[in-house]
Amino acid sequence: MCGIVGYTGHRAAAPLIMDGLKRLEYRGYDSAGLAVVVDGRLEIDKAAGKLAVLASRLPTDGHTGTLALGHTRWATHGAPNDVNAHPHTDTDGTIAVVHNGIIENAAALRAWLSERGCRFRSETDTEVLAHLISELYTDSLEAAVAEALRRVEGTYGLGVISTHEPNTLVAARLGSPLLLALGDGENFIASDAAAVVEHTRSVVYLDDGEVAVLTPDNYHIVDLDKTRVEKTVSVVDWDLETIERGGHAHFMIKEILEQPEAITNTMRGRLLEEEGTARLGGIDMTDEQLLEIDRVVLTACGTSWHAALIGEYMLEELARIPAEVEYASEFRYREPLVDSRTLVIGLSQSGETADTLAALREAKKRGARTLGIVNSVGSTIAREVDGGTYIHAGPEIGVASTKAFTCQVVALALLTLRLGRLRAMSVLQGRKMVKALRRLPQQVRQVLGHSKEIEKLADTYALAQNALFLGRGYNFPVALEGALKLKEISYIHAEGYPAAEMKHGPIALIDEMMPVICVAPSDAVYQKIVSNVQEVKARHARIFAVVTEGEEEITSLADQTVTIPKTIDCLTPVLSVIPLQLLAYHVAVRRGCDVDQPRNLAKSVTVE
Ligand code: G6P
Repeated sequence: MCGIVGYTGHRAAAPLIMDGLKRLEYRGYDSAGLAVVVDGRLEIDKAAGKLAVLASRLPTDGHTGTLALGHTRWATHGAPNDVNAHPHTDTDGTIAVVHNGIIENAAALRAWLSERGCRFRSETDTEVLAHLISELYTDSLEAAVAEALRRVEGTYGLGVISTHEPNTLVAARLGSPLLLALGDGENFIASDAAAVVEHTRSVVYLDDGEVAVLTPDNYHIVDLDKTRVEKTVSVVDWDLETIERGGHAHFMIKEILEQPEAITNTMRGRLLEEEGTARLGGIDMTDEQLLEIDRVVLTACGTSWHAALIGEYMLEELARIPAEVEYASEFRYREPLVDSRTLVIGLSQSGETADTLAALREAKKRGARTLGIVNSVGSTIAREVDGGTYIHAGPEIGVASTKAFTCQVVALALLTLRLGRLRAMSVLQGRKMVKALRRLPQQVRQVLGHSKEIEKLADTYALAQNALFLGRGYNFPVALEGALKLKEISYIHAEGYPAAEMKHGPIALIDEMMPVICVAPSDAVYQKIVSNVQEVKARHARIFAVVTEGEEEITSLADQTVTIPKTIDCLTPVLSVIPLQLLAYHVAVRRGCDVDQPRNLAKSVTVE
């Protein structure tokens, strides 16, 4: 959701900002803009559409200023057009603001500011901030921003510059991520380290309620009461290469292919073969504390929610702990019943999803112990939970989540081992699971070997209007995830269903035009799903099935099959989802869709 980059230093700022925005474009991409202080004036360029449109509008001789702000937008208030694009300025063009989040009392502030003579140009809530800061400015941008924020209700990640202070960059955060990146004679702000890692790896993550003031050689941080806050400088431990496409046509396919390595990283140093368990230092709980837990609630959004469903199945079946999954957006508002014996686990690739963060805060407030299963190191969720596990999948840039999903499932398996071995799981069962986990990366590689077959299939599926995905047991969430992948990047309407539930409704949709994708590995519910596939076949649907190597019954019913190697039931999703990721990818490419930046979506949703 919205990308912010700001710079103060000794180099021409505009190209640095544009490069940074390019790396943040995945966060939001309906419009973009740039503000540079040049010779005591603000030069503003804005454009609806992708960053390339803005780039084509910039003056060919470039802006020479060394203080600038840039933004890529994911619209909340007002249509994605040139005028509503950020940065926004005050009436006289002395203050420029970029903002991620929502100002909830914007209407009241707008009325007040209009009465005082401010001229509004856009429909955005952000423009209110520019006018408000300008109204409150006397001789310090820092003071004016802090005062303005005391009058604002809502959420923000904010960057502000002014012609009054041509070296100063002010940033503030409440609810939307923002970091400072510290260079040599130059400093940056950014919503994500990806924008700045090319220049420096030293970053300071802002926390809620903090305002940062940066000049080329210095920075300091205060809270809204002007008290200085001392923060630690963190070092980003990945480099530019990790976030580049490395010769692949899209980030999504690069990330699909990275899964064997990513899963290896999730497990690295955590498997204890002899004891048949997992070491998860980050959860920071003793055996006694873990045994006190009598219920687990998993909460998440989107693809992470699908991984959570698999976790629920694992925890109940193998660790014998009552577990349930809640959409974070529902959990936070429904007076949930949790207490100190409930473990509430938030799953999030970005670690910034507003609803998941709010759900975890709600759980904490109610006395529950919170854990995060997070990819993005240093993200807000990772910092706010009581403990957690990084999945170490590496930066995920494609909007459709792929490697984060399989790594989340693996992390949940590790947690199941840890909790299970304290309860119902025997050492033999634990060892079996550890062995199966160890084999996974190689097995994922084998499934990826079917990429070419799946690419051929995509020709047929590219013409479909609808698709139905069916699965049972551990593979019902995989059916949901397969349908989500297809609809979000190819815009084909797709539904995922528990295979047996199909006869209570969706079966009415089936005819020879309807592709049905059956996720049917040879697990405990295999025989059951065979019957469901027969029901589909009897209605003349076109069937694509994911089955275990050597399987015959479904293979004889299906039009096409792709095989996965044998593993234990709870790990089948890690293998069975891969053909569905590849199918969605190749279908979207065939249909000419923008795979990495599908319409209306954003990688990280920091508004509710
Ligand atoms: C957005 C993304 C999805 C993602 C979801 C949850 O909708 O487009 O790919 O699954 O947010 O994100 P999180 O970062 O919390 O896993």
